[in-house]
Amino acid sequence: MEIKKIAVLGAGQMGNGIAQVCAQAGYEVTMRDIAQKFLDGGMATIKKNLERGLKKGKITQEEVDAVLGRVRPVLEMKDAVKDADLIIEAIPEIVKLKLDTWNEVDELAPKEAYLASNTSSISITQMAAATKRPEKFVGCHFFNPVPVMGLIEIIKGAATNDESVEVIKQLAKKLNKQTVIVNEAPGFAVNRLLVPAINEAIFAIQEGVTTVEDMDLSIKLGLNWPMGPLTLADFVGLDTLLYISDYFVDEFKDSKYRAPALLRKMVRAGWMGRKTRKGFYDYSGDKPVPQRF
Ligand SMILES: NC(=O)c1ccc[n+]([C@@H]2O[C@H](COP(=O)([O-])OP(=O)(O)OC[C@H]3O[C@@H](n4cnc5c(N)ncnc54)[C@H](O)[C@@H]3O)[C@@H](O)[C@H]2O)c1
Repeated sequence: MEIKKIAVLGAGQMGNGIAQVCAQAGYEVTMRDIAQKFLDGGMATIKKNLERGLKKGKITQEEVDAVLGRVRPVLEMKDAVKDADLIIEAIPEIVKLKLDTWNEVDELAPKEAYLASNTSSISITQMAAATKRPEKFVGCHFFNPVPVMGLIEIIKGAATNDESVEVIKQLAKKLNKQTVIVNEAPGFAVNRLLVPAINEAIFAIQEGVTTVEDMDLSIKLGLNWPMGPLTLADFVGLDTLLYISDYFVDEFKDSKYRAPALLRKMVRAGWMGRKTRKGFYDYSGDKPVPQRF
């Protein structure tokens, strides 16, 4: 089946990035969120990203206008999914929210549409089972920032068929991204490694082993990561990291995945990282300022 129209659920960090790259690849996109302010924020980010490309001469003004014209922000789920060939979900990493949403999507979307979740950790099989078309349900895990990162993990749930995997492979080709295929397991391949690594960095800060900036510098220079783990944590979103850690403990029944108390405390304080301008760094000024704990 040829995919022409894509509905993206969620206009947050990942949703607006996915909407942008799909529109750039020529797809008609609807981007759905639950309040106008989130849609406005998502559209503003897309515009800012495209204008950065314009300044660098990577894209023309006509292309910017055409891409923006292909993304339609909508509030009603029905408007988002009614004509879609593929629905990509990028709403918060909360199991019940995802299950309820998929139930609703399944009722409203065309029966032939494919369903894909950008979840970082939640079971594809469990979400697929909330629909009447589990064979058309597949994990499609983009990386942050979506326009920059070159990988999509394709996750097969228990019932996912080959055609659904092929749909995401074809999409990735058009988006100029590489794919890996992973059988379902919590955290798939990348986050299974990344989340415990970031948590270990936070444990070290909590224990006073070193400072935020020195932990980041150590890993950046010592392991040649493009950014340190605490900077990365702020990019990912501390709430998302906490959800994933708690989910890993539930699924693996292994305390080695537990979240540091410091991470939980920060999320309770509303310090989610870059999106709230405060996390391991304070982003309210010109330059990120490392926090002391
Ligand atoms: N942040 C990352 O680095 C990253 C990377 C890969 C995957 N993910 C996954 O992508 C998903 C989204 O993460 P994010 O970082 O974009 O979160 P985010 O908080 O930036 O955005 C989520 C958006 O979804 C909206 N939303 C809530 N309920 C909704 C609903 N029922 N319908 C439509 N929109 C709804 C929220 O208002 C918000 O704007 C999560 O599953 C996360 O695990 C995140």
